[in-house]
Amino acid sequence: MEYVIEMLNITKEFPGIIANDDITLQVKQGEIHALLGENGAGKSTLMSVLFGLYQPEKGMIKIKGEEVKIKNPNEANRYAIGMVHQHFKLVHNFTVLENIVLGVEETNKGIIKLENARKKVLDLSHRYHLNVDPDALISDITVGMQQRVEILKMLFRDNEILIFDEPTAVLTPQEISELMKIMKELVREGKSIIFITHKLNEIKEVADRCTILRKGRYIDTVDVASTSKEELSEMMVGRKVNLTVEKQEASPQQTILKVDHLSYRPVHAHKNVLTNISFEARAGEIVCIAGIDGNGQTELVYALTGMIEATEGKVFLKDKDISKESVRQRALDGMAHIPEDRHKHGLILDYNLSENLILKNYFDEAHQKHGFINFKRMKEDALRLIDKFDIRSGQQDKTIVRSMSGGNQQKAIVAREIDTNADLLIAVQPTRGLDVGAIEYIHKQLIEQRDQGKAVLLVSLELDEVMNVSDRILVMYEGEIVANLNPKEITTQELGLYMAGSKRGEGL
Ligand SMILES: Nc1ncnc2c1ncn2[C@@H]1O[C@H](COP(=O)(O)OP(=O)(O)OP(=O)(O)O)[C@@H](O)[C@H]1O
Ligand SMILES: [Mg+2]
Repeated sequence: MEYVIEMLNITKEFPGIIANDDITLQVKQGEIHALLGENGAGKSTLMSVLFGLYQPEKGMIKIKGEEVKIKNPNEANRYAIGMVHQHFKLVHNFTVLENIVLGVEETNKGIIKLENARKKVLDLSHRYHLNVDPDALISDITVGMQQRVEILKMLFRDNEILIFDEPTAVLTPQEISELMKIMKELVREGKSIIFITHKLNEIKEVADRCTILRKGRYIDTVDVASTSKEELSEMMVGRKVNLTVEKQEASPQQTILKVDHLSYRPVHAHKNVLTNISFEARAGEIVCIAGIDGNGQTELVYALTGMIEATEGKVFLKDKDISKESVRQRALDGMAHIPEDRHKHGLILDYNLSENLILKNYFDEAHQKHGFINFKRMKEDALRLIDKFDIRSGQQDKTIVRSMSGGNQQKAIVAREIDTNADLLIAVQPTRGLDVGAIEYIHKQLIEQRDQGKAVLLVSLELDEVMNVSDRILVMYEGEIVANLNPKEITTQELGLYMAGSKRGEGL
């Protein structure tokens, strides 16, 4: 039998939208099969159908030629199907090991036995170079590590068909290349992988075949080696996409953000997470903070936006000392922030889209009177932003944000923040999880903000983005800024050396 998995003519509807409209996906044994499509095209929905989270209205699923009904994820597991979700499903106050065994615990007289599990986890972790600490709490480990825990969960259950829903969106370039190796190793051992990603380079690198979806419909399944990136993106978006960023030379003006000898040491920590950070971002320039994940970028942004208080040093916004200001006051002073963690800090998932779009200004005069929200205004704002930023969902402004596709949630945040028209836009991984068409659009928006005389502070792990979008690059390494570079004067390789700490800029 050629196919391990066949999803035939699958249709799945949600209120106001047909998420999957007669989609067919056939996966061969031992292949990496990419699933490509715009934000909201229906990829995660299709995978949730395969994983038993949703029941399709129409269509059938065959495993090795035999029709099956997958009623829930436990049944999917019994068919050896495992899934790493786009937004992880881990219990944050459990340890790594507890999360991995959850649901398949070995017990003795009602007591959970973890010793065998621990051994198996350590073996798997070692074998696939996952490097996880079984006793760490999920809430204490990085997103990249959390993902490895999700991978271990599948391996621990001996799953044969592995679904990766945008695994690389949250990873650093180094972690991505490690994941690619892991994936290749897994298929070499006979496992089959369905791989969702928006990054065409990754598809070219690991995938054998690729199925393309657009607006809930099946477009084609192609052989990856004989299809160019341009062809892939055109099939997916339905038009030609410019994969390079076009912009004029920057002409920086007055200083908007000034960071002055900022240091941060968490309570009880033995060393600084940020050490003596000083830099400026001026009107009309895009300054990028580059670095490998975990070198203090997150804390720097927290300190700038008021989510933590720096231990030493000051932050000025247009000459005003904002070091002690609240998050809201900083926003009112002219700071917009696209946060790194969209679920934790960017959205209220159980609010609808229009409510989320006014989170930054519901309290101002235009949006409320005597404590009552101006619903007419709220709806107008929402519809305008939905249209301008092409935010797709089932029920427009009334859609509960939790039900929106990951990329469209991100677009909602970007729309809200850019719309505040702030002098400083701090954008952390703004294109994470976006499709190529949306990335093109967001990059244009960042450049437009710059050209309108705003200062943009872009924090990105994506080397291409760093090199193509920024006017100046500050590299962070172990909590310090170790280089101030002109992207035109360096190569990606050199940038990599600074990021790895093996090179340091002068005069810093
Ligand atoms: N539980 C749900 N309730 C209502 N609508 C939903 C639900 N899940 C998905 N949708 C809608 O179905 C459509 C497809 O969503 P899906 O998450 O499958 O997209 P996707 O291809 O994975 O996109 P992305 O690349 O942004 O992750 C979207 O318009 C989304 O709003
Ligand atoms: Mg998705």
